[in-house]
Amino acid sequence: MHSTVLSLLIVTLSLFVTLSLGDILLRDGAGSTTLSDNSPEAWPAPNATGGNAWKDAFSRAQAFVAQMTLEEKVNLITGHDGRCVGNTGAVERLGVPALCLEDGPAGVRPVLGVSQFPAGQAVAATWDRDLIYQRGHAMGQEFFDQGVNIALSPVTGGPLGRSPRGGRNFEGFFDDAYATGEAAYATVKGMQDAGVLTTAKHYVGYEQETFRNPYSVLDVIDPINIQAPISSNIDNKALHELYLWGFAEAVRAGTGYVMCSYNEVNETHACANAYTQNNILKGELNFQGGIMSDWGGVWSDTEFINGGLDIAMPGVAFLGIFGLWWGDGLIPYVESGVVSESRVDDAAIRLLTPWIFSGQADNPPPAVTFNVDPVYITDDVYWRDVRKVETMALIRQIGEDSATLLKNVLAIIGTDAGSGWAIPPTIVTPYEAINYRARRMNSQVYAVFNDTAYDVIAYTVAESMADVAIVFVSAYTMEGVDRATLYLDHDEELLIETVAAVCNNTIVVIHAGGPVLVEAWIDNPHVTAVVAAHFPGQESGDAIANVLFGDVSPSGKLPYTIGRSLDDYPPNTISDDPVLNPQANFTESTLIDYRWFSAHNITPRFEFGYGLSYSTFAYNNISVRSVYEADNSTIQKTNEPFEDSDGSNSLYDIIAEVTAQVTNTGNVTASEAAQLYATFPDSPGIWLRGFDKLKALSPGETRTATFALRRKDLSLWSTERQLWYITEGEIQLQVGASSAKLYMTSSWSS
Ligand code: NOJ
Repeated sequence: MHSTVLSLLIVTLSLFVTLSLGDILLRDGAGSTTLSDNSPEAWPAPNATGGNAWKDAFSRAQAFVAQMTLEEKVNLITGHDGRCVGNTGAVERLGVPALCLEDGPAGVRPVLGVSQFPAGQAVAATWDRDLIYQRGHAMGQEFFDQGVNIALSPVTGGPLGRSPRGGRNFEGFFDDAYATGEAAYATVKGMQDAGVLTTAKHYVGYEQETFRNPYSVLDVIDPINIQAPISSNIDNKALHELYLWGFAEAVRAGTGYVMCSYNEVNETHACANAYTQNNILKGELNFQGGIMSDWGGVWSDTEFINGGLDIAMPGVAFLGIFGLWWGDGLIPYVESGVVSESRVDDAAIRLLTPWIFSGQADNPPPAVTFNVDPVYITDDVYWRDVRKVETMALIRQIGEDSATLLKNVLAIIGTDAGSGWAIPPTIVTPYEAINYRARRMNSQVYAVFNDTAYDVIAYTVAESMADVAIVFVSAYTMEGVDRATLYLDHDEELLIETVAAVCNNTIVVIHAGGPVLVEAWIDNPHVTAVVAAHFPGQESGDAIANVLFGDVSPSGKLPYTIGRSLDDYPPNTISDDPVLNPQANFTESTLIDYRWFSAHNITPRFEFGYGLSYSTFAYNNISVRSVYEADNSTIQKTNEPFEDSDGSNSLYDIIAEVTAQVTNTGNVTASEAAQLYATFPDSPGIWLRGFDKLKALSPGETRTATFALRRKDLSLWSTERQLWYITEGEIQLQVGASSAKLYMTSSWSS
């Protein structure tokens, strides 16, 4: 596959062609410039320095690499078959083991003996930084205890949720840059505090599954390996203000690794994109760890390592189904000078530095990993149970606190719960939890586990004279496939109608990995309550039962917008034209999700940030003041350029603070996620710039929501000047309960 003279010539030639085409500046409709992919300034890849945080580890890594032969170095940075999904090369002579890489992002995968955590989108719906951190920490602990060095997790903004039908949106957090950044920071910190190293993924602009990676796929376009992955064509402003934000936070939190994505960015493979990898990630964000390819994201040897990729995965493993890249195949390119040896050294140093910094070099995780997925089994299957009782409680709590009440005409659902329930199939756990609780109340529970047995369902609900019917519906979504529509699975709209026709107290619980269109049934007066329960993980049943029976007031809020139709959303074409070079033009620029709705005055059904409670809240007394608090949260400093940088200040200094009083005006203890949105003079639409989850407010209690605004939160990106700047004039700041319920307005100017 490589190392022939012919392929060497071809690769060199294509590198040359890319260079000569690269320095074009494109203008998009909004007037901002798009620096195209591989511009000449994007080479060479910046060498690591260790940054401010990893200096000692960097020196040790340098010393290791200085003792290695070229063969050992290329072996180290290449994936091999082994006990895990990814395995780096060992240099046993120097005591460097093969590092084990396993998937996330909702728990260690694919192994037994671990917890199934709530999906990223579910923990996002809690709007609770503490819970997000705790989830990261508990999950990180399980990775470490299962013998994993590097978790392939979390998803920190690729996808960000540009396409509401995107198959993997549920793996990430919010359809918003700022909030995703907050969750990315907390998750990376939580996981790495527990000892495992993280991989922030997928970098960058990975927003659809369709045509994400046609490598070796025959049936899309014949012959094999002819069709390129979808190209995400992103302008420079959207790249900075949206798609990079979460990665900047992951870097600040000290993520050891970043995984580049399958897609192309502005017509260059993400994993060979010298602009996004060398200039932006290693330059602007000053990332000091290793960039690792997604499995099948590498299409050639030299362009990828020269474009900034440090670790090729799965490298020479998986019987070559994704090609056989790097390893010894790199050596002739180094010998001929196409790839400099210093680039290989830097890649090896970037791989080793975080590993040393994490402490794993001296205190490795226990060697117990095991692959239980037959695809990956190479040896005996080992596993052990690393779950903890407190983790079960945490997962249940996240399930409770992420439950998002969309509609409620009952005071508290379930206090008057009586003798009949209808539960559709596949979700057994809620049935078990509800059945258990109802029987203790001397209630009867009937269940039907077939979505389309309409006659049986109607008969069961009617004949049991059910006081309440709970309908569990879903919109299944998974890696590799985008959702065909925004509707429910198996015509469950009809299921809801069938039940509501015979029960005037029908509660709908939705398990979905993104927005579901509800227009057909949401206004049905017999549908008395609707809960978006997201993908809450293994404790799903107990969590939803605790909410439905009124033990806990729901306090989840939507991490995305539910429109009235797919047409309400910005252009988000899941491009599926069977062409050689499929293109996704991000013409909406920064206007994704609620930003599009707000900029175009479109009223959604349920807006971003929306969620009801069993209580009510009043918002009062907004106050805005300039403050100065030097950045104390950055672990690894970025180099992001900003106006008025004087070398000692930081883009992450806190320069303003907004407060507001929130009072629980209802009758039950409940939590409220207060939100802050900014409107900038130079930018359409509103921007989420703060949130504060006020937990367990007693009836009548007033508490202060506090929003600390960092210089970056009050800045926009100037494409012309290539820096973050604070706009002239007043920035409007609004506080409220959601992106549409902004009760109070104030402003700030520099
Ligand atoms: C492909 C997925 O895109 C990525 O998220 C995952 O980590 C790798 N496969 C390894 O399984």
